[in-house]
Amino acid sequence: MPTAGNREHWSSKSGFVLAAIGSAVGLGNMWRFSYLSAENGGAAFVFLYLVLTALVGLPLLLAELTIGRGAQKSPVRALAHYGGNAWRPLGFVFVAAGFLILSYYSVIAGWTLRYTGILLVEGFGSDIADRFGDISEGWDAFGFHVFFMVLVVGIVAGGVRSGIERSATVLMPVLFAVVIGLAIYAATLKGAGAGYAYYLEIDFSKLGDAAVIKEAAGQAFFSLSLGMGAMLTYASYLDRDQNLPGESVIIASADVGVAFVAGLVVFPLIFALGLTEEVGASTVGALFITLPHAFAEMGTAGRVVGLLFFVALIVGALTSAISLLEVVVSSAMDGLGWGRKRAAWVMGAAITALGSFAAFDISVLDVSDQIANNILLLGGGFALCIFTGWVMEDPIAEAANGSGRPAWLVPWHYLVRFVVPLFLGFVLWQAVPDTFEAVKGLFSG
Ligand code: TRP
Repeated sequence: MPTAGNREHWSSKSGFVLAAIGSAVGLGNMWRFSYLSAENGGAAFVFLYLVLTALVGLPLLLAELTIGRGAQKSPVRALAHYGGNAWRPLGFVFVAAGFLILSYYSVIAGWTLRYTGILLVEGFGSDIADRFGDISEGWDAFGFHVFFMVLVVGIVAGGVRSGIERSATVLMPVLFAVVIGLAIYAATLKGAGAGYAYYLEIDFSKLGDAAVIKEAAGQAFFSLSLGMGAMLTYASYLDRDQNLPGESVIIASADVGVAFVAGLVVFPLIFALGLTEEVGASTVGALFITLPHAFAEMGTAGRVVGLLFFVALIVGALTSAISLLEVVVSSAMDGLGWGRKRAAWVMGAAITALGSFAAFDISVLDVSDQIANNILLLGGGFALCIFTGWVMEDPIAEAANGSGRPAWLVPWHYLVRFVVPLFLGFVLWQAVPDTFEAVKGLFSG
């Protein structure tokens, strides 16, 4: 691909697609998706999540890709490019969101590194709940958080092609293979059927539940890395001749596909071992306590399966964290004129420092996740809809770029202009008060 000016570019279209899938597929698909499904009644949540990904996530994904590729700039400048300086503050909100999300995301990723170590050395025992209590907060958690951040910074410092693209090209196929292999294995377990039933049989009475809709919308956003300019930033390294609508469908399908298949691993395992009582007890429970408990009961097979599972998680977490840091780093490069290495190490260090709060107090982690999802990402998505639908002059032509104004993009414009912002307005109205309660709880408790 030719490069425009001296801005870095992906070496190929598939490099971009894999990196974007790498951003989307992460802890969100396995950790968040499985506990939210468990907490919100299984199949009804899964169904809503799929529908909202198609109707809300996909249109916004195309919007972010369109803005990024068109402007060829990091978020703050890209927004100013199309909307003038009044839109710069939104770009700063995106950078702040990247900061906050990566700070706690890395702590969770640190736990997965730690778990992988435990599996390699000794395997899980029946005391896993206590063990998790010990390692999830304090110096242990902090140490692995720092370790993970060093990996992320090292890759981002390597640049778009030799850092981000290369890592995604190597790692993503590994993740796909492991997750599919594990789903096939899970299908052979006795008692898997009950897991499938919970996961796949829809309780229609829950489909209209506002709380479940809110969670499903938040998850659709988080999982697709939307609402804070991550996809926008990746698209800014694309040439102008790429087919964005087709690529957004591929990215969204892969993301949903991995989440869905991860559910086909998690639920049969939990049900086969009769651990249903434990699920959904806490946000971290499904993945960091119940599953390891299952692996412990499965003996040697459990150790191998567990190891594969946590390796897949690390891979997902790494490629996602890279995209979070890239938003901050590209903004520092564009806005402050810093070189890539300096931006990566300085910003990485600042994020690591912020993450120490989550590492030493798990309730900070929980509240950060709520603030990020319920306010920053949903609010950012809302603002991006207004921007694309009402501020940009001709988003259809920009999205199609070079191929006129195809009629089939008209419904997309309509969704971004009316349907998605109305829906997000409704969800925000539901979500904001809850989040304030959670923040108050943090300070009073
Ligand atoms: N999508 C990732 C996941 O599912 C997390 C993530 C990466 C993210 N970049 C993001 C979430 C940007 C929101 C915004 O784990």
